[in-house]
Amino acid sequence: MEVSEKFLQTALDGIHDCINIINKDFQIIFVNEAASKMGGKKRQSMLGNKCYTQLWEKSAPCESCATGKVFETGKSQQVIKWETGFDGKKYCMEHFVFPIADKEGNVEYAVEIFRDITERKLFEEEREQQRLELGKRIRELRHAYEELESLQSQLLQTEKMASIGLIASSLAHELDTPLATISGYCELLAEDTPDEKLLGRIKTISEQIVKCQKTIRNLLDFSRKSNYERKLCNIHHLINNTLSLIEHRLIIRKIKLHKIFNDKVPLLFVDGNQIQQVILNLINNAVDALPKGGDIGIETRINTEPKSVDIVFEDNGFGISDEDQKHIFTPFFTTKEPGKGTGLGLSICNNIILAHNGKIVLESKAGTGTKFIISLPI
Ligand SMILES: Nc1ncnc2c1ncn2[C@@H]1O[C@H](COP(=O)(O)OP(=O)(O)OP(=O)(O)O)[C@@H](O)[C@H]1O
Ligand SMILES: [Mg+2]
Repeated sequence: MEVSEKFLQTALDGIHDCINIINKDFQIIFVNEAASKMGGKKRQSMLGNKCYTQLWEKSAPCESCATGKVFETGKSQQVIKWETGFDGKKYCMEHFVFPIADKEGNVEYAVEIFRDITERKLFEEEREQQRLELGKRIRELRHAYEELESLQSQLLQTEKMASIGLIASSLAHELDTPLATISGYCELLAEDTPDEKLLGRIKTISEQIVKCQKTIRNLLDFSRKSNYERKLCNIHHLINNTLSLIEHRLIIRKIKLHKIFNDKVPLLFVDGNQIQQVILNLINNAVDALPKGGDIGIETRINTEPKSVDIVFEDNGFGISDEDQKHIFTPFFTTKEPGKGTGLGLSICNNIILAHNGKIVLESKAGTGTKFIISLPI
């Protein structure tokens, strides 16, 4: 079928995509209505002129031009790129160019079809953005869920510890009376016994009972709900009382205790119960860091500037890594296995010391030991 140029023009003008036919010299030999509109020029003024001047306002063929490639390779090309239109707006254009060859197979012309896919592209980009956003939300949710799960198990652990504390204090209460009775009977026995050997044995029983009573008193003192009562306290007494609660742990672990108490340390205006709680946790932590035994040092010293008392707890245990040091005061941070620690110890210590206008400073190197310095104002 012979097709007239006019017929072809009318047919291609009805298409929304821009269609040009370019010869080997980059001259435009055909443009449809949409292409001349895109170029912002009259069709007649475009024909016979170079495509790069008419369509892209350039003085030389465009870099990485798909049409040039079609002439070079003889193969169709497809490129998608963002371009700025004559109206200054950004457009996403799909360039599709295919060759028209003569009988010998030499490419004579290239047919360019430009399609504005801006809307589709924006929609796809928006969808991709939404997909990424959704992925991010899902990850955040999963993270929050895991955190919640771990907090829940820590909470259970804390409750368990609290009820063990309650049981311990009621047990101490229960034991107080029978111990007092045994102690009384020992005294009576001692009065009635003339036998020196027997008397010695009764004395040993009495001494051991006094020791039990002391431990129990300390435990009761410690577990009693405190009304945050502050009074002048002897720090050394507080340390010694706390030590009597955990002496057995030190002995079992073969840990040597080194006390260096400065006699000149004045009485401090503190809540004795709370300070004992701090001391207990710091010593327990040190013991936990010495599974194969070692040394724990407790030293008291006086600072003049500002006027304060330092209590230094030092151990030569496994220390705390730089990474863990960032978290140790965070509630529920623990490196101990489940059932061994709640991770609340140091955060409570920190709160107590801050409430006393003091501070806790940590010096530790993984592998060489740990030093906690508590400063309390005089
Ligand atoms: N002296 C220490 N040596 C090595 N690690 C320590 C020492 N003191 C604290 N840590 C580290 O700090 C973490 C937090 O201590 P913290 O006292 O707050 O909690 P915990 O001892 O794990 O549990 P809890 O005190 O509630 O029983 C410990 O799990 C441990 O990893
Ligand atoms: Mg602890």
